[in-house]
Amino acid sequence: MLKNKNIILGVCGGIAVYKSVELLRLLTKAGASVHVIMTRAAQEFVTPLTFQTLSSNPVHTDLFNLIAEREIGHISLADRADLFIIAPATANVIGKIAAGIADDMLTTTVMATKAPVLISPAMNVNMFTNPIYQESEQKLRRLGYLFEAPVSGSLACGWEGEGKLASPETIFESSVAALTAKDLSGKTVLITAGPTREEIDPVRYISNHSSGKMGYALARAARRRGAQVTLVSGPTALAKPDGVRVVNITSAAEMQSEVMTRAAECDIIIKAAAVADYRPLARNSTKIKKKTDSITLELVKNPDILAGLGAMSGDGSPRPFLIGFAAETDSLAINAQKKLNEKHLDMIVANDVSQTDAGFNVETNRALLFFKDGSSRECGLMTKDELAGIILDNAASRLKPC
Ligand code: CTP
Repeated sequence: MLKNKNIILGVCGGIAVYKSVELLRLLTKAGASVHVIMTRAAQEFVTPLTFQTLSSNPVHTDLFNLIAEREIGHISLADRADLFIIAPATANVIGKIAAGIADDMLTTTVMATKAPVLISPAMNVNMFTNPIYQESEQKLRRLGYLFEAPVSGSLACGWEGEGKLASPETIFESSVAALTAKDLSGKTVLITAGPTREEIDPVRYISNHSSGKMGYALARAARRRGAQVTLVSGPTALAKPDGVRVVNITSAAEMQSEVMTRAAECDIIIKAAAVADYRPLARNSTKIKKKTDSITLELVKNPDILAGLGAMSGDGSPRPFLIGFAAETDSLAINAQKKLNEKHLDMIVANDVSQTDAGFNVETNRALLFFKDGSSRECGLMTKDELAGIILDNAASRLKPC
């Protein structure tokens, strides 16, 4: 996600410095080249060696380091940056930036950069609510600086309240968003994810192996691109994506009702969920006891939500751009194209779920994309985040302008 991106990570002195070590790990894992600048106070909490080892780049601490000034220098560092993150950012450094003071390596480089700056404050709640601090933050926001608000909780200083540094995952997500073109701005996107569960009795259900990872990756990607995102999710173990409205459902019938009530307002609907095709004819209200050697369950077909959405165009009214998934174990292309045509989709993502590195419950996927106009595209083995990006590239380029 961050391949070929140069990121400066500015680290100020605060107990939350340990979280920026984790943030650095997330950034480098996503492919970014990260240059860390530490203030003098930051070095009281963590040594530069930790950041140097994890970033594989020298850590900048001294404005007047002659070698760095000749070989890199704060200006060339500032010029090369695609994004400048300050986490944790103290009241002192935020106040200095707002006042135009540049008296160390960090504040001088921020002053010199043209890159977007994402500031993630961490401080005592009374410092955070102090009108002097608030005025600095508001001034910087007006000037286009991005902020990742601190969260509430028990603070290291013993106080309770707002001031805890946002989580490394949240800052990472905002960093990726800051580097992403907003080609879905103004668009409403609904994504379904995960399995559905069809109850047999109070303790048992029918379901499938879907983890929800592909749908959640799509939700994060659409959010980064500026869309308003609703994620209708079956039961999963995944964390709620930042900035996404999550509607939790259990059964196919619940998913159908949540999707259909919102469908008319959507520009894009992506049905990544693995909907159970059948449900028990009747749910037993009490636990079924094992009285006999075998039992027979009568199952009835669930409504096909995607086919229902495809039929929306029947009355001639505009309908969302519809993307389906085809989970297949054989005849991948033939089965997927059949679903594309029969469900009246704009695009279908076909995956062979019998493979160990694609489909259900793994981090990677390999897919064939088929489009309404007969064209297709092959996507080799890649992460679900990467595939989500390609799916949205194709949807965005085919959407009619607002
Ligand atoms: N789908 C749906 N409602 C259903 C079943 C499937 O909306 N009751 C959607 C899925 O979310 C997916 C697409 O239809 O986007 C294809 O699902 P898939 O399970 O691959 O195929 P089915 O249409 O269910 O057909 P089959 O199980 O026979 O392959």
